[in-house]
Amino acid sequence: MIKNNCEKSVKQYYIKTFGCQMNVYDSQRIAAILESLGYQATDRAETADLVIFNTCHIREKAAEKVFSDLGRLNLIRESRLQEGKDTIIGLVGCVVQAEDEQIAKRAPFVDFATGPLTYHRIPEILEKIRRKKGQTIIDTEFPAEAKFDFLPENKHPGVCAFLAIQEGCNNFCTYCVVPYTRGAEYSRPVEDVITEAKSLVDNGCLEINLLGQNVNSYHGEDKQGKERDLAYLLHRLSEIDGLERLRYTTSYPADMTDDLIACHRDLKKLMPYLHLPVQSGSDNVLKAMNRRHTSGDYLKIIDKLKTANPEIGLSSDFIVGFPGETDTDFKATLELVKKVGYIQAFSFKYSRRAGTPAAIMPNQVAEKVKTERLEILQDLLFSHQLQFNQSCVGKTMPVLFESEGKGKNMLFGRTPYMQNLNAKLDKKYLNKIVNIEITAAGMNTLSGQLKG
Ligand code: 5AD
Ligand code: SF4
Repeated sequence: MIKNNCEKSVKQYYIKTFGCQMNVYDSQRIAAILESLGYQATDRAETADLVIFNTCHIREKAAEKVFSDLGRLNLIRESRLQEGKDTIIGLVGCVVQAEDEQIAKRAPFVDFATGPLTYHRIPEILEKIRRKKGQTIIDTEFPAEAKFDFLPENKHPGVCAFLAIQEGCNNFCTYCVVPYTRGAEYSRPVEDVITEAKSLVDNGCLEINLLGQNVNSYHGEDKQGKERDLAYLLHRLSEIDGLERLRYTTSYPADMTDDLIACHRDLKKLMPYLHLPVQSGSDNVLKAMNRRHTSGDYLKIIDKLKTANPEIGLSSDFIVGFPGETDTDFKATLELVKKVGYIQAFSFKYSRRAGTPAAIMPNQVAEKVKTERLEILQDLLFSHQLQFNQSCVGKTMPVLFESEGKGKNMLFGRTPYMQNLNAKLDKKYLNKIVNIEITAAGMNTLSGQLKG
């Protein structure tokens, strides 16, 4: 009875995450902050005393989507108010950094908004709101302190966890908002990363995915103040007992050093899968994008990776319809795709981001042409993906089962190549790496059974 009364008074939080893996990581860290303040998670905005939208600004009409979702949230807030319940609404992430002036105008009911680099200040902000509700608190500073030093331990990482080791970007690709929303590159010190990784493993994690907008430009300081690169960090992390799998994302081609490529040969724990965005196969377009590599440089890196580990599977991001992209440029992208043979990839129509150089470039490509090119590219990419998945049928792979699947007695897991896999399996295999024989394959999912 007493327990129930206590539970009733516990404040609940709901976080909705838009966008990339870094945002998923940030949401996990925000959840840990809120739990350290005594909040409990709920998956329904209707029951939440605190709702946070963690926003993305990288493509399309992301900001518009956030504002329209906020409109719906405001209706929930008003109906809760009629029941005498207060709701605090917070916005976090890149939309805040890019649209800070719009927030108070378009969504005045938002209580606070912080950019992606200042969410560690949420406890102070909530305290300010407790004292005086009514005004939108906006914090879009690029702070002098690193937020990572202020975040509580993630006690429920799950069996696969993200770990941010680097943030921000100095590359300034001409289409991209990240250097403006996430700021200049920052690398966390080596020992901080090792400590967080050990804590994740102590809390049950078997697979760590190192995150950064430009993760392979990592240059964190070691105990002696010496700068260390990602290859060094991967070697150190692979020594952690109990940690079974390592991944890192997202990488920039020009920062693929030989030492890092050698990790794909030498480190057993490093999964044979790499997301290495090229964006376009045309050197003209790459130049206009301000990428620091040509298609030839990229293909050389791919060759070296395939030599280091012939089993490696590659993935990429592509943008079609960048300003000035001709049919010939687009064909060069198709050619590159055929040469590399990606096992999966993401492809997007170029979208103009205010404040970036490409937004005001001449020769913007017509929407219709972008749509046609995207369809052609995706047909090719999807056919490669399906081919790869089907080539796995009959093979046995170690699968990490991370959750229950859809359907009775089904478990969901991931292969070393990040493929989704469903298998009918006893629950005792949950949170374990199990050898699975692949029995069927579609575009997005594999099926398998326990290897007898
Ligand atoms: N338009 C389309 N795609 C973009 N990306 C980044 N900015 C834009 C934009 N303005 C894509 C790139 C990047 C991925 C995360 O999003 O392909 O690698
Ligand atoms: Fe954006 Fe380019 Fe930096 Fe990637 S490397 S975050 S696309 S500026």
